Amino acid sequence: MTQKLLFVCLGNICRSPAAEGVFLHHLQERGLSDRFVVDSAGTGSWHVGNPADRRMRAAAQRRGIDLPSRARQIELSDLAEFDLVLTMDDANFAAVTSLAKEAGAQASAEIRPMLSYARHFNETEVPDPYYGGDEGFEHVLDLLDDACTALLDELLPASAGSERQP
Ligand code: 4NP
Repeated sequence: MTQKLLFVCLGNICRSPAAEGVFLHHLQERGLSDRFVVDSAGTGSWHVGNPADRRMRAAAQRRGIDLPSRARQIELSDLAEFDLVLTMDDANFAAVTSLAKEAGAQASAEIRPMLSYARHFNETEVPDPYYGGDEGFEHVLDLLDDACTALLDELLPASAGSERQP
C-alpha cells in the first residue's frame, strides 16, 4: 500500500522542501522508497516555481541530502489526493485546516503538526529560518530528522499492510 504525504510550510522554499528531502533520504536509506509518495507545498504563492532556498539546500547537502523540489502552492485537491498533510507551524496548520473546511467532504487527508512526531525536542513549531543565520537552517534539519524518523516508524506498519498474510 502506497501512502501519500504532503509537507506544508509558508513559502515552500525552506522548511517543507527540507522535510520532503529528509523523509525521502530516510526512505532511501531504509529501502522503502516504493511505499510512499512524498511532496511539499506552501500556503503562500510568492515563490511558486522557485527551487529551495540556497542556504537550505547547502545545509541539507552537508548532510548528504538533496532538495530537488520546486515551490508550489497547496490546492484544494491536495486534501483529497494525499493521506497525511504535515504542517510546520501553527499558522500553516490553521491555513490548511481552513482549506480543508472549504474543500468539504472531499478533504479526506489527515492534517497533523510535523513536530507532534518529535521525540527529542519539545518545540511544537519548526521555526522559519528565512531571516536568520546558518544555525537556523541546521536547527530546522535537526528537528525534521527527529520528526521524520518517528513519522516513518509510525507509518511503516500501515505501509507494510499488503505484505501481511491474512
Ligand atoms: P518557508 O520559509 O515557509 O520555510 O519556505 C519562508 C521563506 C520565504 C518567505 C516566507 C517563509 N517569504 O515570505 O518570502
